[in-house]
Amino acid sequence: MKIETKEVVIDFRDVVVELGGQKIYDRLSFQVKKGEFVCLLGPSGCGKSTSLRVMGGLLPIAAGTVRIMGLSPSVAWSRIAYVFQSPRLVSWRNALGNVLLGTELRFGSKNKKAREQKALELLSLVGLSKDVHKYPSILSGGERQRVSIARALAVDPEIIFMDEPFSALDPTTRKKMRSEIEQIWQKTGKTIVFVTHDIEEALQLADRIILLTKKPTSVKEDFPLEEARPRDLSSSTLAVHRDRLLETFKAIESCIET
Ligand SMILES: Nc1ncnc2c1ncn2[C@@H]1O[C@H](COP(=O)(O)OP(=O)(O)OP(=O)(O)O)[C@@H](O)[C@H]1O
Ligand SMILES: [Mg+2]
Repeated sequence: MKIETKEVVIDFRDVVVELGGQKIYDRLSFQVKKGEFVCLLGPSGCGKSTSLRVMGGLLPIAAGTVRIMGLSPSVAWSRIAYVFQSPRLVSWRNALGNVLLGTELRFGSKNKKAREQKALELLSLVGLSKDVHKYPSILSGGERQRVSIARALAVDPEIIFMDEPFSALDPTTRKKMRSEIEQIWQKTGKTIVFVTHDIEEALQLADRIILLTKKPTSVKEDFPLEEARPRDLSSSTLAVHRDRLLETFKAIESCIET
């Protein structure tokens, strides 16, 4: 039997974060391997967004270690790109201009032709080949979020952090975007850390769900999902996983935060 040993690209070890005098993490530890799609699931306020800030080198830790591809977050930030809940596009640039802006900020304005070609390819990958000249004000919510995904991919990051990227969209668009991000992940082979509240979203997308407790936060359960993709959310295996996750989530919610 062939044993696959994938490289660890995120190593979060015994991390303590304190904010406003409150201990947010209680020696939080988890790892993410290259190419994995990991969902961080946990109650509101447990520190999911905070973990992305820590990994991006935007927030110091009080104890423990964080390594991104073996480097400290303050050095490794250029290997990372973010997609947030709101697309954060600039209104005075069209879709193409917004994708290019990400690369200009990181690499400067050289090689414009090549960067433009790449940006057009990425806009096509996210289904916007006909909309590259549209400004954010006339793009739909889903289209704006697609632009922000293309902008993240344009800097060719090793790891993409997504913080509830589809939660502001209507249910139909949300479902469509989920399957699109799954296809994009399969095509690009990027490592994705995806924060969500939504168990259905995690069941559809994750190779592994890291379920977090309330504050002070630790990992309640590290939950692998090996079902083939694209997944049928009505399948009996996923129903078993869903029941177990719901039960664990309820137990977490009923705990009193200290
Ligand atoms: N600058 C800050 N000062 C004090 N407390 C903060 C600060 N930033 C975040 N917090 C607190 O840290 C905790 C974790 O916040 P975070 O935004 O990471 O939660 P979350 O898990 O992403 O929640 P949600 O699911 O609601 O987005 C919260 O209790 C929040 O109030
Ligand atoms: Mg959050």
